[in-house]
Amino acid sequence: MKIPIKQGLLRNRRHIYMTMDLSTSCDIHCVQCFREILTPKPIKTGLEQIRVLEREVFPFLKWLSLSCTGEPLYLKNFPEALSAAKRAGVPFIRIQSNGTHLDEERSRMLIEGGLNYLGISLDASTRETFEKIRAGASWDSVIGNIKDFVRIRKANPTGLPQLGFNFTLMKQNADEAVDFIGLAKELGADVLSFSHFFIESWEMRDWSLIYDPPRANALYARLRSEAARVGIRTLVPEDLPERIQPFVHRDLENPCYRGKCASALESWMFLMPDGDCFPCLNLQDRGPIGNVFETPFSEIWYGARNQRFRKQALKGIVEGCDQCKFFAFTADLSNEGTYLAKRLTTRSAAEMDYHDHSEKIPNRSPSQSQALKTVGLTE
Ligand SMILES: C[S@@+](CC[C@H](N)C(=O)[O-])C[C@H]1O[C@@H](n2cnc3c(N)ncnc32)[C@H](O)[C@@H]1O
Repeated sequence: MKIPIKQGLLRNRRHIYMTMDLSTSCDIHCVQCFREILTPKPIKTGLEQIRVLEREVFPFLKWLSLSCTGEPLYLKNFPEALSAAKRAGVPFIRIQSNGTHLDEERSRMLIEGGLNYLGISLDASTRETFEKIRAGASWDSVIGNIKDFVRIRKANPTGLPQLGFNFTLMKQNADEAVDFIGLAKELGADVLSFSHFFIESWEMRDWSLIYDPPRANALYARLRSEAARVGIRTLVPEDLPERIQPFVHRDLENPCYRGKCASALESWMFLMPDGDCFPCLNLQDRGPIGNVFETPFSEIWYGARNQRFRKQALKGIVEGCDQCKFFAFTADLSNEGTYLAKRLTTRSAAEMDYHDHSEKIPNRSPSQSQALKTVGLTE
């Protein structure tokens, strides 16, 4: 079926970065997991719905993450979703997995299916810490799976998928972070990413390192020098300001986020397993801007709500972020809310995977400049 292409922000080009879950379920319970905090509805995307995505959504995508809050590799429909995205020509497809189901069959499915990036979350460099944090997962089994994956991948001349490891920094694992770099290299990872919580429960605030900037900054310095010594591409958070003021829920004078919004600059879209679309994960309480299984995607993209969000966000003003912890409500970097906001809103896709995307923040690409002109704005 031919996709109707309209003129405008999307034009006939692949602009959209989409993060979606085929299901928000997971077989393990990590202590820090935002899935446990957000408790999403247990909905799954069916095969018929994957066909709709292949026809109506995937042709517009430049980048696709086939997982967000849930575990993708134990889902029956995952192989079909990957094939559908490949058939639709999505140039970059990634997943993030807990590695528990990465057996030989699934490793081959990912390699032969043309996945570009496989992220495995480990959060520890010892069995004891791993099994405490990633409750329900077995260290021996996940490490064994990674070794088998790397062995099988050797036969692929493209070297794909790229293998990346995630390490969510917290008090429980901070002492193992430096050793993790050598372990990752030994296991055959291509890239590494250390990050802090971007969604915390109140309890998790006691585990976070961001409230102790001297300790956190000293650790970052050691991580950077160990990564350089070992020779592996590693993302370490930016140094923290001297003092972070804890976030408090309160009514704000000017309930708007003002600043750079990656969701608009990079044309992000978030898709829930039931088809609900959000231009930004933080605007969920405003309700979806449409449902792809009820309305053609191009109508949602060109719909008033999406266009209004993008037009405002490109100007640097986003309504609806007033009580959102992630977004900056002042330009003061010593404010925790602002710090978390900066981390989230300026984290571009390129930084997530070290993939060389042409459209990076902060430099606007010609298409983004065109997008600004289309909505009547100049740079
Ligand atoms: C929620 S998991 C879902 C994908 C998959 N099941 C996995 O374990 O990687 C995605 C990533 O988010 C990280 N994560 C979980 N909770 C987090 C939080 N509160 N803040 C930041 N990252 C978190 C996980 O460690 C993992 O790397």
